[in-house]
Amino acid sequence: MTKYVIHGGKPLFGEIDISGAKNAAVAIIPAALLVDGICRIENIPQISDVTLILNILQELGADIRTINRTTVEIDCSHLRNLRVPEELARKIRASYYLIGALLGRFGSAQVPPPGGCDFGGRPIDQHIKGFVAMGAEVDVQGGYIHARAQKGRMSGTQIYLDIVSVGATMNIMLAAVLADGMTVIENAAKEPHVVDLANFLNSMGADIMGAGTDVIKIRGVDRLSGGSYSIIPDQIEAGTYMAAVAASGGEVLIKNVIPKHLECITAKLLEMGVEVEERDDAVLVRRTGKLTRTNVKTLPYPGFPTDMQPQIAAILCMAEGTSVLTEGVWDNRYRYVDEFRRMGAQLQVDGKIAVIEGVTQLSGARIRACDLRAGAAMVIAGLAAQGTTEIDCIYHIERGYEDIVRKLSGVGADIRVVVTPDEEKQAQVS
Ligand code: EPU
Repeated sequence: MTKYVIHGGKPLFGEIDISGAKNAAVAIIPAALLVDGICRIENIPQISDVTLILNILQELGADIRTINRTTVEIDCSHLRNLRVPEELARKIRASYYLIGALLGRFGSAQVPPPGGCDFGGRPIDQHIKGFVAMGAEVDVQGGYIHARAQKGRMSGTQIYLDIVSVGATMNIMLAAVLADGMTVIENAAKEPHVVDLANFLNSMGADIMGAGTDVIKIRGVDRLSGGSYSIIPDQIEAGTYMAAVAASGGEVLIKNVIPKHLECITAKLLEMGVEVEERDDAVLVRRTGKLTRTNVKTLPYPGFPTDMQPQIAAILCMAEGTSVLTEGVWDNRYRYVDEFRRMGAQLQVDGKIAVIEGVTQLSGARIRACDLRAGAAMVIAGLAAQGTTEIDCIYHIERGYEDIVRKLSGVGADIRVVVTPDEEKQAQVS
């Protein structure tokens, strides 16, 4: 097993560069299936979720050329099959985007139900409602979702989402760009990656208006041709490092960000006594004094992001006073609290609400990452804690954070990757 070992209590100083946005990349890469030509995608984060989605495209017959560390060229002109391999698709949530993209381009898709972090139920009924409204038949057979456009091509229509869903908004957009006529998505999600997907598709010849508002209009076009596009910086990766500085103290310039996307996070850190200065494409985060309590409720964008909920919880555990944290998006996103308690944190959870009593100091412990953002929050807690923290199951963290150990070591954190003898022994045997 591979784990992170952190010797905490060291303030962070220096600069961190933010990578491309995971949740944009995992939608934009499948969107290349819609493009008739070579599609060059830049600023791709090097994370395991991206590797997985690229492998899936390759299995379908896409030609993928790595240009450099962060750039690939994808050519989907000669796709071999429309059935997505089960073992790959089940490891990643974003495999659901393959339904919309394959339906949009070929009028047919066979995709296993998606995997991803476990936050209680993660239905995709709103995605399916959209596909059906656009003229698809969708059923589940033999563990696969089978979707087929009855007329061979999707038809534009008006779709009202019952819940603001990032995945459903983007998936319907994928299914609609090559549809016959106009699709209108009402009560759409407004996250930066929704806008990024629309910008990518428009740069390839799509006709999408209103992304970033709650009504998106997509006029179907006959063909998308190739082009070049650069993915936006990762809002949540940036927020995670902002939280790391808030927890550990020090001063770090977080570079290659869009400060506007970070406002919801910045506002909460300011309330807690952290200094944040916005620059053109960077934020300077400084924490010298004590952290003070606050209340946080997660909401769809532009609200405070649910994907920052565990990280803000880690800081609130060390803030003076009692804070109330409300999860407004997922049913069960507090599976990490027992791990925090091992470090001396005081939290009580009742349904979607966590009440956190700040303690003066967390102490190092052996803990286990239970999902991607919870794992990142454990790294933050470990950096601020007294003593040594060992984090197991770090593959969750590496799904979404490029080079987290190198980036944190670069600003003075004492964090390293340790491979336990068990794994070395296994490697020798195999
Ligand atoms: N929902 C439904 N029906 C649906 C779709 C969603 O009831 O058909 C509900 C969900 O159960 C949830 C809420 O609507 O309560 C919002 O879900 P959404 O569809 O917005 O989430 P998602 O698309 O599955 C993406 C991100 C998540 C992030 C959420 C919310 C990707 C690949 N995943 O998930 O990111 O938490 O949006 O912002 O983009 C992460 O990066 O760690 C992560 C979990």
